[in-house]
Amino acid sequence: MNDLELIEKAIEARQYAYAPYSNFLGGAALLCKSGKIYTGCNIENAAYGPTNCAERTAFFKAISEGERQFVAIAIIVGYADNIDTYSYPCGVCRQVMREFCEPEVFQVITARSTSDYKKFTLKELLPYSFGPENLGF
Ligand code: THU
Repeated sequence: MNDLELIEKAIEARQYAYAPYSNFLGGAALLCKSGKIYTGCNIENAAYGPTNCAERTAFFKAISEGERQFVAIAIIVGYADNIDTYSYPCGVCRQVMREFCEPEVFQVITARSTSDYKKFTLKELLPYSFGPENLGF
């Protein structure tokens, strides 16, 4: 599985985004150490607060199927036909990643297309973070 293939999966997932309030459509593809890929889209809600980002949808799908070890996530998020900037995971999603991923190893790929993307470690996106070790786990 290379970056391009993971981004393609994120693009596919984005078509299922339910974002009638923002029209900001998100797709994510999460690569597990097992080799399996879980995809996710954002799911908005009329009450706004229950909205779930594409990243967390992918993580929660994977975790609920027994996955606990992760390699990388590709995301592609933006207005319907106009992905003019890179989008970055929100703070809540970064913290969910922090629970399960090694900050210096886990890769976050933010894409505008399969050929136009940037790659970061989780630590770059969430330095000085709080995680399970801080509670002795
Ligand atoms: N969103 C994502 O799904 N992922 C991101 O990385 C950023 C934001 C969604 C949440 C909400 O449905 C919409 O984009 C606008 O914030």
